[in-house]
Amino acid sequence: MEYDLVITNGVCVTASDVAAFDIGICGEKITMLAPSGSLASATTKTLIDAEGGYVMPGGIDCHVHLQEPSMFGKGSSSDSFETGTRSAIAGGTTTIVAFAPQQRTEPSLIAALDAAHALARDNCYCDYGFHLLVGNAGETALSEVPLLPARGVTSLKVYMTYEALQLRDSEILSVLAAARQSKVLTMIHAENGDVLTWLTERLEKRGLVAPRYHSNSRPPILEDEATNRAISLAALVFQTPILLVHISDSGATKRIREAQTRGQPVFAETCPQYLFLTREEHLDAPPGFEAAKHVCSPPPRDKAAQQDIWTGLRNGTFSVLSSDHCPFNFDDDVNGKKTCISEEFPVGQFRHIPNGIPGVETRLPLTFSATTTPEGRLPLSKFVEVTSTNAAKLYGLYPKKGAMMPGLSDADLVVWYPNKGSAKRPAALDGLTITNSMLHHDVDYTPFEGKPVDNWPRYTVLRGKVVWDRDGAGIVGSKGYGAFVEREKSVLNDIWQKVDMDGAFDEEKL
Ligand code: URP
Ligand code: ZN
Ligand code: ZN
Ligand code: ZN
Repeated sequence: MEYDLVITNGVCVTASDVAAFDIGICGEKITMLAPSGSLASATTKTLIDAEGGYVMPGGIDCHVHLQEPSMFGKGSSSDSFETGTRSAIAGGTTTIVAFAPQQRTEPSLIAALDAAHALARDNCYCDYGFHLLVGNAGETALSEVPLLPARGVTSLKVYMTYEALQLRDSEILSVLAAARQSKVLTMIHAENGDVLTWLTERLEKRGLVAPRYHSNSRPPILEDEATNRAISLAALVFQTPILLVHISDSGATKRIREAQTRGQPVFAETCPQYLFLTREEHLDAPPGFEAAKHVCSPPPRDKAAQQDIWTGLRNGTFSVLSSDHCPFNFDDDVNGKKTCISEEFPVGQFRHIPNGIPGVETRLPLTFSATTTPEGRLPLSKFVEVTSTNAAKLYGLYPKKGAMMPGLSDADLVVWYPNKGSAKRPAALDGLTITNSMLHHDVDYTPFEGKPVDNWPRYTVLRGKVVWDRDGAGIVGSKGYGAFVEREKSVLNDIWQKVDMDGAFDEEKL
């Protein structure tokens, strides 16, 4: 047997197992799992000795915004498909699912999808898929939902906030009914947009417009109420499956947990900003514009909420941990955060700050490093589950992605350095902290500056090729090697089973 790549002597971690075994790779696929050390002398073009390190399925980040226009007036997100996916592989992520944004002025979902393909094609360092972001739920869009699965797109996102894209409840119901019919998963951004507008106007009347007031304009109750409403709307449409994105707070987490306990197919995502950033840090930032570096929605919450989010990851309330990478340059008044500054508002107006922060590269290192701390303790298999395997199952990529099944799984892997305490571990990792200069995105800051990380991906392997070699040349993959992956329907927890049993949504049966 001749291999193209062998990874020997590592401890392999999947969503179900932690065990020492060797991996043999032919072409783009994992073809052999063998007892530890047994492939060390196999015939292979490339050998990686992972002694003392962990080997895991490559990270899957199913919430990434690239080259999207800002919804807040001027500007656009700063990472292109090229730079965003370059950043992904340097952080151990081998597949992203980005958004194809349909603007309100654009009736067609297919046109939005074609436009996103044109931006990504031949430009990506990692594999990628698309969710359709529904900004206009008119008849054209609804009639196109059934066409999406054949194009490899099996998820949509709708907004309950952001004036430019917010849908009314009746529109959300129409999307849910159409999505259910085609077994397309609906992702929901749950914040109450009307309350946001009302609070924003009140803050503005009092002159409270600086970046730090962003979080006053969207307190937890907005998220709690909208999450509850989203769950109710999905229940009305015969319990169609939904995924609540970027959950930040205790109240919304509790609503989700309760719905899950009732047996409703409600899934949820959280993000590193709700595990590693707090509102207190944000408010303590130097006065002035600095707080804009943390402006994302929902905003980071307090320490108690952070603990509840960790608990939700451990107990399965959250199926996935995604980055919600949505970067805008900080020191940029043409496309970035500073587009909200004017002569009248020299410290900016939070209403017009482009929302979102970068994080596609730091997601895995931050979270993996925290698994050995008291607050972040996550079993290793749980880490793989929420950062890779569940994303693959939820978004129809499994077992091609997110698994190590010989013959079936792409050879998408991340190899970590040995952990603290191992003699093989490089001393330079001790005391490592995140700095923006070590990242590969095209953004002039990271909100995680100075945060400690005690490990980082040593190698990232995408479909059998080493694309990131931290001790060697760094990025060794090439632009354009990343391919579009067609997704099947979701298989996480058999989420369409109830829909199959109940048949078509029929208002006469309500
Ligand atoms: O502030 C955020 N999260 N920006 C990205 C867009 C979104 O709502 O996911
Ligand atoms: Zn959102
Ligand atoms: Zn902040
Ligand atoms: Zn987002």
